[in-house]
Amino acid sequence: MKLWGGRFSKNTDKLMDDFNSSIHFDNRLYRHDILGSAAHVKMLGACGIIPKADADLIYKTLFEILKDIEDGKVEFEVSAEDIHMNIETLLISRIGDVGKKLHTGRSRNDQVALDLRMYLKDEIIELKLMLKDLLNVILKIAEENLETIMPGYTHLQRAQPITLAHHHMAYFQMFKRDLERLDDCTKRMNIMPLGSGALAGTTYPLDRQMVASELGFDAITANSIDGVSDRDFVIELASCLSIIMMHLSRFSEEIILWCTGEFSFIELDDAYSTGSSIMPQKKNPDVAELVRGKTGRVYGSLISLLTMMKGIPLAYNKDMQEDKEAIFNAVDTVKLCLPIFTKVLDTMKINKETMYNSAKGGFTNATDIADYLVKKGIPFRDSHEIIGRMVAYCLGKNINIDDMSLEELKSFSDKIENDVYDAISLQTCVNERKITGGPAKESVLEQIKTGKEFIENC
Ligand code: ARG
Repeated sequence: MKLWGGRFSKNTDKLMDDFNSSIHFDNRLYRHDILGSAAHVKMLGACGIIPKADADLIYKTLFEILKDIEDGKVEFEVSAEDIHMNIETLLISRIGDVGKKLHTGRSRNDQVALDLRMYLKDEIIELKLMLKDLLNVILKIAEENLETIMPGYTHLQRAQPITLAHHHMAYFQMFKRDLERLDDCTKRMNIMPLGSGALAGTTYPLDRQMVASELGFDAITANSIDGVSDRDFVIELASCLSIIMMHLSRFSEEIILWCTGEFSFIELDDAYSTGSSIMPQKKNPDVAELVRGKTGRVYGSLISLLTMMKGIPLAYNKDMQEDKEAIFNAVDTVKLCLPIFTKVLDTMKINKETMYNSAKGGFTNATDIADYLVKKGIPFRDSHEIIGRMVAYCLGKNINIDDMSLEELKSFSDKIENDVYDAISLQTCVNERKITGGPAKESVLEQIKTGKEFIENC
């Protein structure tokens, strides 16, 4: 017999049970469901809504059930539909009529909203730790590569010289924002919905604040209809997760490019690479490719959630049961990707010489020689034009600008002197960009310093 079976004259069809049931995916909410119920029943007892002795028995039995679930002694029933009714059924089977008092002043609608908020809050704590590990590895690589010159790109064409430290600190900023976004998302998630009932609150004098404090929530929801029908906190998290994956995917794309024979900027550790079943020479960057590929499923979750919610009239509708698989999958995927991606970064070998030689080519110092002429009094547009002709000349001869003799250089402008070679060396190009946020060592050291402060305080 179902917990809601009173008004029905026959049992549900097996097909109906299978279709309607969510236990195979919401079983993971068991701990939060029990903790939520425990806080609820403690409050029911404290407020004299049910006898204190009954509340105590329910409270104690809930934790016995929790232990049994954790010891693998409990089998959930599809016919009990979801985790909430499975646990309530277990409770009633153990303590009989007293157990039937747990659901006083509560609906599954506010219960599931509570459980999901509690579950996701805990997941966010783990996600933040993983992001922190990644940020620490990025900082380590940056500190070790303050003078590792490499080409910076626009349009995937070599543009200007930077350092690997500067490059990595760009990703530091992205993942730092991701961490901050998770904190921000937590603020709106950390509001306690119990007391909203099915949609119209309850006539029992529940102490909502007590439940909120008991469970570590900052506040209680302000409107009972919104309390049960809001899934913004799920969508916000899915969008934070999508942005994390977008960042990981961009980084993966660079890793994949960098370990091609054509680039050879890095070599991945054997422990995080794969071979080919037919081509003996292959070493493939599968981790980065999978991370890039899995980004799609996290975006998919976000779009599923937005679409699922867009046509739902107030308040709870069963469509909303679909929120869980989507957000669980997104959270699981990000939790799978972050640690292994961090390992890939942490163990990769950096070919500093190849990076340097690549920055030597591609006229990455062309802007600097144009600036050199500006400093000698030539307007920037004219100097841009002169250096453009210089580049065309070098391309014809297959040489770099600094391979030219002073005489050759002077044929483009008589303002060019012997000091030009120093002015356009890769080291000068990098070290003169001392501007805040720039690639010069002192500027990147500043970025690292504030980065470390951020990590210490988060
Ligand atoms: N399993 C349901 C869900 O995940 C719980 C809420 C059910 N409420 C209801 N009125 N049928 O959404």
